[in-house]
Amino acid sequence: MSELSVNHLLGIKYINEDDINLIFETADHFKEVINRPIKKVPSLRDITIANLFFENSTRTRLSFELAEKRLSADVINFSAASSSVKKGETLIDTVNNILSMKVDMIVMRHPNPGAGVFLSKHIDASIVNAGDGAHEHPTQALLDCYSIRERLKDVAGKKVVIVGDILHSRVALSNIFALQKLGAKVKVCGPKTLIPKYIEKLGVEYEGNLRKALEWCDVANMLRVQKERMEISYFPTTREYTQQYGVNKALLDSLGKEIVVMHPGPINRGVEITSDVADSKQAIILEQVQNGVAVRMAVLYLLASKIQHNEN
Ligand code: NCD
Repeated sequence: MSELSVNHLLGIKYINEDDINLIFETADHFKEVINRPIKKVPSLRDITIANLFFENSTRTRLSFELAEKRLSADVINFSAASSSVKKGETLIDTVNNILSMKVDMIVMRHPNPGAGVFLSKHIDASIVNAGDGAHEHPTQALLDCYSIRERLKDVAGKKVVIVGDILHSRVALSNIFALQKLGAKVKVCGPKTLIPKYIEKLGVEYEGNLRKALEWCDVANMLRVQKERMEISYFPTTREYTQQYGVNKALLDSLGKEIVVMHPGPINRGVEITSDVADSKQAIILEQVQNGVAVRMAVLYLLASKIQHNEN
């Protein structure tokens, strides 16, 4: 297979295993490029990309921007805090105004689940979802799976536990879809109040006990408690959360095997993960960030080649 089955990356739900493997093989090539002294290729010289961030972001925004620049695309950035969205403009109007300036691709983070899917029905540009509310964050899941493949050689057959605030996490949902499409087994762990009621319908088992979950897994993906998405209290205190669902060195050392520890960032040190774990060799947190650039280059490159292909 040499091209993606989709024209947008709206969620992992909409792509298949072949798409994911094509993205990984393309990312292998770009990973080699970004480790060269000259970290740039001219592939997207004729493409203009708008990064539309209607919600806060540090690493995802920087990672996309770097990926775009490494591919030589023209890049414009927009953040909702300083835009006319605050003046009452609709999303379609905002984006169409930007597109009339001849933009080919949109990378969008938006607080509303489904914002990317909605937009893709109304505009011509290719859209990459950089996180839509508590729904999906497809490039994060791709870079997470890519990092597992890099550390453990393969994703198929691996046991992955996602720990923490599954209910509010787009990273969790996209990871569940991606890991399952690649043949991994997935469990979730965390306070019952932070686990969606439909989780078993996704083919995912719930384990309430962190030690048991860690004894079972090859990889633990530790998520942040997303306080900003909570209107009520889901657990008694942060201290109690950490006691039950935080990983620390003593717990990992007592497992009698070495598991891989991941975190999508931003980390709350001392809450879901202690510093000695986050900074240890078992943690691949910075590899995830580094791989994010190569994986996003691959996604943008493959989607852009479809735009050019359609025009011929
Ligand atoms: C996550 C996000 O924004 O969904 N961060 C990220 O993109 N790396 C997770 C989070 O905010 O906890």
